Amino acid sequence: MYIFKAAVVGAGTMGGEIAQVITYSGLPVVMKDIDQAMLDKGMERIHSIYRGRVAKGKMSEGEMQSKIDLVTPTLTYDEFEDVDIVIEAVPEKMAVKQAVLKELEQVCPEQTIFASNTSALSVSEMGAATGKPHKVIGMHFFNPAHVMKLVEIIPGLDTDQETIDDVEMFTTSLRKLPVVVQECPGFLVNRLLMPYLNEATKALEEGSATAAEIDQAVVGWGMPMGPFTLMDMLGIDICGHVGEYLYSEYGERMAPAALFPKLIEAGRLGEKSGAGFYDHPGGESPVVKKMIQELQSSGAVRTGSVFNIDRLMLPLINEAALCVQENIATIPDIDMSMVAGTGMTYGGERLGPLAVADKIGLDVVVEKLEALAQELGPRFRPSRPLKLRARANHLGEKTARGFHEYA
Ligand code: 3HC
Repeated sequence: MYIFKAAVVGAGTMGGEIAQVITYSGLPVVMKDIDQAMLDKGMERIHSIYRGRVAKGKMSEGEMQSKIDLVTPTLTYDEFEDVDIVIEAVPEKMAVKQAVLKELEQVCPEQTIFASNTSALSVSEMGAATGKPHKVIGMHFFNPAHVMKLVEIIPGLDTDQETIDDVEMFTTSLRKLPVVVQECPGFLVNRLLMPYLNEATKALEEGSATAAEIDQAVVGWGMPMGPFTLMDMLGIDICGHVGEYLYSEYGERMAPAALFPKLIEAGRLGEKSGAGFYDHPGGESPVVKKMIQELQSSGAVRTGSVFNIDRLMLPLINEAALCVQENIATIPDIDMSMVAGTGMTYGGERLGPLAVADKIGLDVVVEKLEALAQELGPRFRPSRPLKLRARANHLGEKTARGFHEYA
């Protein structure tokens, strides 16, 4: 099915960015919210992205206006009778998402695809709340959505092949890179990213380094921004909720850092609230420093650990190896997704986590994870697919095969 008209439900920053991406490809989009202020915010996000294109000389004022004219902002479902796909970007609560899908079923034609931009929640569970689970699918954009190339496509248990094919084609038409990912909590990229963000936060609250020092070390390693800059951009509430959800699904190895609820309680939600790990503007914050001191003196977190970047990056590699074992995506797709979804590089090359493991040597990765498990706990235990390859002498580049093969 060719998609002629799309809709986005939920006009927050993400909803606005997704609507902008759709108009940029030349398609009309209806953007709906229940709140006029949110709708205005979404429209402002679209305008500001296009103003950025004009300021960079990539587009004329006239072109900008014709793209913006493709958006129909609305508080009602009146314009939904001929939409081919709806992307929902409403708050990350299963009950809210299911309620929206039920409403959509009443107003959209039978063939309309219902895509969810959920960060982590179950697509199958959403589909089960509708009378047409074969048309329900995950379509996960990355932040900032107008810049990041990747879109994860997540079929639920009942999604049919035609829907998967249509959404893949639609994603390509938006000039994005689609990757089909098996359903699991956090899907692929958030499942790999969260242990790394969580470990950075644990290193911070244990006093092993400051946020700026950790950010700097990570950028030196090859990520385009450090974990605290990234979390402040994504929203501490979003990271906190995804982290809690992954903990509830995967257990102890994903136990969230103690600082997340503290920041959320204090309303430090990141850039959007003017403060998160950092003050915006202002940088490192005495308030966060005090929170860390309180956590340490109450004995809620350990102290005295020495900062080691392996602590952040190796859990990401370990989780990627588990995704290989579980067939969440193919080895090339896992690497491509981290490069296109998070801008990951290593040693100046665009390499994903499995290619990085091959470069470091799988025997070295296993040894380092074992040492971290001794020092910091069992969440670092090397996963079976890593140990299996290390024992079979599939050590990566140095033996010409690891996760990838080398000439
Ligand atoms: N917030 C919003 N937009 C931002 C931003 C921020 N903090 N920083 C930069 N941008 C936008 C800019 O406005 C610019 O847009 P424009 O083209 O319309 O002017 C665009 O990004 C490019 O910015 P720059 O030219 O300044 O480019 P940089 O070289 O600084 O790159 C970046 C910025 C693309 C954000 C880069 O740092 C990057 O790739 N960071 C990693 C982002 C990432 O990991 N995203 C995925 C997170 S996981 C996720 O989203 C899943 C969700 O479910 C939680």
